[in-house]
Amino acid sequence: MMAVLRSGGRVFVMLLISRMLENSLLSAEVKEGEILPPTIQKLMKGYNKYLRPFFDNGPVTVGMSLDIASIDTISEINMDYTATIFLRQRWTDERLVFEGNKSLSLDGRLVELLWVPDTFIVDSKKSFLHDITVENRLIRIFPNGTVLYALRITTTVACNMDLTKYPMDKQTCTLQLESWGYNINDVMFYWTRGNESVSGLDTLRLAQYTVEDHYTSASEAIYETGHYPKLIFHFELKRSILYFILETYVPSSLLVVLSWVSFWISQSSVPARICIGVTTVLTMTTLMMGARTSLPNANCFIKAIDVYLGICFSFIFGALIEYAVAHFCTLNHPDANIVMHYYYRHRHPHHYQNHHLHHLCHVSSARTVWITVTRWEALTRR
Ligand SMILES: *[C@@H]1O[C@H](CO)[C@@H](O)[C@H](O)[C@H]1NC(C)=O
Ligand SMILES: *[C@@H]1O[C@H](CO)[C@@H](O)[C@H](O)[C@H]1NC(C)=O
Ligand SMILES: *[C@@H]1O[C@H](CO)[C@@H](O)[C@H](O)[C@H]1NC(C)=O
Repeated sequence: MMAVLRSGGRVFVMLLISRMLENSLLSAEVKEGEILPPTIQKLMKGYNKYLRPFFDNGPVTVGMSLDIASIDTISEINMDYTATIFLRQRWTDERLVFEGNKSLSLDGRLVELLWVPDTFIVDSKKSFLHDITVENRLIRIFPNGTVLYALRITTTVACNMDLTKYPMDKQTCTLQLESWGYNINDVMFYWTRGNESVSGLDTLRLAQYTVEDHYTSASEAIYETGHYPKLIFHFELKRSILYFILETYVPSSLLVVLSWVSFWISQSSVPARICIGVTTVLTMTTLMMGARTSLPNANCFIKAIDVYLGICFSFIFGALIEYAVAHFCTLNHPDANIVMHYYYRHRHPHHYQNHHLHHLCHVSSARTVWITVTRWEALTRR
């Protein structure tokens, strides 16, 4: 009994809440009507926002223009870029024609009362409309019925990158706008000013890239459900190499030279030569790892920087191996320098001078001693 009563009470409360909600929605609608000034109220009379302009009279043409406010990140790992754009759309709605010669700027919230194109950004992974302090949109109606609708959007758009020439590469990214539901029989898109429709790129300062070229094009997107209008904005990004020269190329080249320092160090000082060899190999490994951190981990393709660093690494590694081999080969032979000292002191005592021996100080086996001896004799005979 109690349970039935309780559930009945619950039903009653829910009914009450739904009634209240209905009332508040109704009053909001009425209030909206009250807020509208007489001109707009007249405009909206008999206006059906669910029907496009020229509903039975050919397609409505929508002109687009873009302003790139910023390109925040270009990510090689995710193969995308994040940009903040101002998207402006213009079209003519014959139902909104009014008398006068001044345009009418409406509150952005009144967009809800108008028909607007269902444009979307193809390949966008994540987008949002800025809403501080109000939703960043603008609507302006001209006396001849032209509507200007502008939005500020931040969007992350996929951009396929070919990184084989990294870091000497150029990437071409696109921003594609399509109509979601209206096909080409209902809506046509065009760039309002051709190649100049997109502005803001020339003044943009990007961390790692410079914008080389940008242009616009229009085409059609073909899906199973039909043909849809499509506008494409292409821009070509060129990576600035200077950063990589300073961060990777110069240090790795210097490391190779550093590994050669060990060739001037006496072969008998094992710790010094091993130390230089191992240190340069380890530093090079760190450098190679550092150069990869901002790149996708897929190892299936080789980039230009990998080739360069790989060659540097093999030079450095070779210097270390050279010492190991040289050291091993002299282990079983008498010290070459001592052999020579003895030879010259006994054979050419009057020629024997220490500084001549500087030319010959690094001979690694008894056989090479003999070869160098003949060279030395030629030298002293002169
Ligand atoms: C704008 O229209 C008003 C009348 O509607 C007219 O008096 C005025 O001269 C017009 N201004 C311009 C710049 O055309
Ligand atoms: C309507 O008026 C605006 C502003 O005066 C103008 O830019 C636009 O071209 C006009 N549209 C048409 C279809 O005449
Ligand atoms: C825009 O630029 C592209 C590439 O530079 C060019 O092929 C095209 O003809 C240009 N379009 C117009 C309308 O100038």
